[in-house]
Amino acid sequence: METVLSGIRSTGQLHLGNYFGALKNFVKMQHDACCYFFIADYHSLTTHPDPKLLHDNVKNALSEYLAAGLDPEVATIYIQSDLPQTAELSLLLSMHAYVGELSKTVSFKDKIRQQPNNINAGLLCYPVLMAADILIHRATRVPVGKDQEQHLEMTRNFAQRFNQFYGVDYFPLPQSYNFGEASIKVPGLDGSGKMGKSEGNGVFLVDTDEVIRKKVMKAKTDSGPTEPNQPMPEAIENLFTIMQIVSPADTYHYFLDKYNNCEIRYGDMKKQLAEDMIAVIAPIRERIDDIRSNDKYLHEVVSEGARKAAENANRTLKEVREIMGIKPF
Ligand code: ADP
Ligand code: TRP
Repeated sequence: METVLSGIRSTGQLHLGNYFGALKNFVKMQHDACCYFFIADYHSLTTHPDPKLLHDNVKNALSEYLAAGLDPEVATIYIQSDLPQTAELSLLLSMHAYVGELSKTVSFKDKIRQQPNNINAGLLCYPVLMAADILIHRATRVPVGKDQEQHLEMTRNFAQRFNQFYGVDYFPLPQSYNFGEASIKVPGLDGSGKMGKSEGNGVFLVDTDEVIRKKVMKAKTDSGPTEPNQPMPEAIENLFTIMQIVSPADTYHYFLDKYNNCEIRYGDMKKQLAEDMIAVIAPIRERIDDIRSNDKYLHEVVSEGARKAAENANRTLKEVREIMGIKPF
């Protein structure tokens, strides 16, 4: 069985794009592979978050992922800083990571532009820590978005370099986990492109019914088709794509027929779309609230997650220390 590992940012709330594009696939994947999910709180320290907010961010991220269906009985779910073995592996791997390659990393160069007054060594070593997250479990698959592909490539380089330097076949070279057919793109409601945090067009899993209705009613439309079966402008196509994702098939076909007959009333379509979105989001939002207010449950989940993760991590660290020549007296 493959070992799959996914690192979760502790900042930002999940939107429908994350849910349908990634999370729903994770929920399925956890039954098909040996899965590790962790909240990357060490990594978030590179931007110097307010210490008062850090814990809340971690708690929110964890609650959202659990509410969306990650199951601690099935997968290993933990907080990165509860597994300090990762930090030691990162230190050991850093001896084989070159400053030249680290300083050329795209994400590092982006950060230099974004936070010129805080170019700390943690930012430079970000890919080494990420490699340690992956290699500590000797994971073979990592689901990553486009912006993380270079980091995964660097992980393979560090792993291969380690294997070659010590003449061992120890670390597997992790590949990206591709959801293939199941991967869908959720467009934004603002007429073009994808739904995203940075795009500012997200419908979030924590949005109230009222907020969802407002966001959907504001979605960009036009004056409607003038001839039957006209091709759709992007904004309209996006609305239909979202409807296809969140609404029952007959609702989607009902409005598609209306469009093709030039009888579409976008107001009606949006009202329906908002209600269908609410049907998806409201139960998740309620679970998020329940989980977030249940400290005892959260404590149990992360303690058990850290315990399971440590079994693997201790074994890897012991073997890596030995390979590198660190041995007990
Ligand atoms: P954002 O674009 O909001 O910053 P992230 O980069 O944090 O989102 O996204 C994490 C993962 O969620 C991505 O790797 C991708 O799998 C998924 N994802 C994000 N936005 C979308 C979207 N609009 N459609 C489909 N999947 C998405
Ligand atoms: N850097 C990833 C992100 O920003 C989060 C992350 C940290 C990660 N460690 C990881 C992802 C290990 C996959 C594997 O999204």
